[in-house]
Amino acid sequence: MAANLKGRHFLKELDFTPAELDDLLSLAFTLKANKRAGVRGRTLEGKNVALIFEKPSTRTRCAFTVACVDEGAHPEYLGKGDIQLGKKESVADTARVLGRMFDGIQFRGFAHATVETLAKHAGVPVWNGLTDAWHPTQLLADVMTVREQFGTLRGVGLAYVGDGRNNVANSLLIGCAMFGMDVRIVSPESLFPEGWLVERAQAVAAQTGGKVTITSDVSAGVRGSHSVYTDVWASMGEEAKIAERIALLKPFKVTVGVMEATGRPEAIFLHCLPCFHNLDTEMSRQNPDICEADDEVFEGSWSRVFDQAENRMHTIKAVMVATLGR
Ligand code: CP
Ligand code: NVA
Repeated sequence: MAANLKGRHFLKELDFTPAELDDLLSLAFTLKANKRAGVRGRTLEGKNVALIFEKPSTRTRCAFTVACVDEGAHPEYLGKGDIQLGKKESVADTARVLGRMFDGIQFRGFAHATVETLAKHAGVPVWNGLTDAWHPTQLLADVMTVREQFGTLRGVGLAYVGDGRNNVANSLLIGCAMFGMDVRIVSPESLFPEGWLVERAQAVAAQTGGKVTITSDVSAGVRGSHSVYTDVWASMGEEAKIAERIALLKPFKVTVGVMEATGRPEAIFLHCLPCFHNLDTEMSRQNPDICEADDEVFEGSWSRVFDQAENRMHTIKAVMVATLGR
């Protein structure tokens, strides 16, 4: 690895250079190949890692846990209700306590300011496992999956269709621009990414040879794209907005027609998961129109969503190994 990331936090893509993110991705590929070959790492041996979750998680929690164990670290899950974080004890005080006992801290929760405060006071690397603003470990798994498919990221199209201002959209907008990709955010105008973020992404793309498009035209937005990505229409914490979002985002549902509108038979479908794509969940049975993707797409030959889910583990391992490992 060229970049030395020891001791660094991993809070959002903008804190890194494109070369540093590329190094993390290369490390993830190495760690994935090693795991496939049965080679176990020991770079985190003797380390203790705190996993703080204000919001639920399947992939992120399991990826951090398995990655820790694979590399010899001990993960400790601290769920909502288990610790005082921000209720009876300030985030800064909790950060200083955990920093005296743990070697690294993962945080998933609501306000991005919370993970920033943890990072400021913990004295050990802090990793963002999703906040309302950013989902940077997801971005690494996403670009890893695209690169596995197309062999490169430079100039490769990724059209994100849906809620254009959530954590996943923000991370894709900046992250894909950093990897020199052709990133498109396709959403209703009222859910376009914030202006400053678009400007930052454009500035990054000007440096990396990437391209940034923001549009509410689904056909034009996906045309020529190598991949189509979507996410839930109401993120965790936005449950009260479900009806309003369904009304707004129904025309942005990823259907077979949307995949065909790419004009690329080799186009892939991506989703961070969990995904509403059938009526097999309690929430989709209550709101049958909530599905952001058709089952045919999710289950079809386009879909790489479970590769993406697996890649969460390899990329999260890379983040911990690079910032904390021996
Ligand atoms: N994609 C993702 O972050 O999944 P979880 O919410 O299950 O962690
Ligand atoms: N935007 C989604 C991502 C879940 C992984 C949410 O925040 O709920």
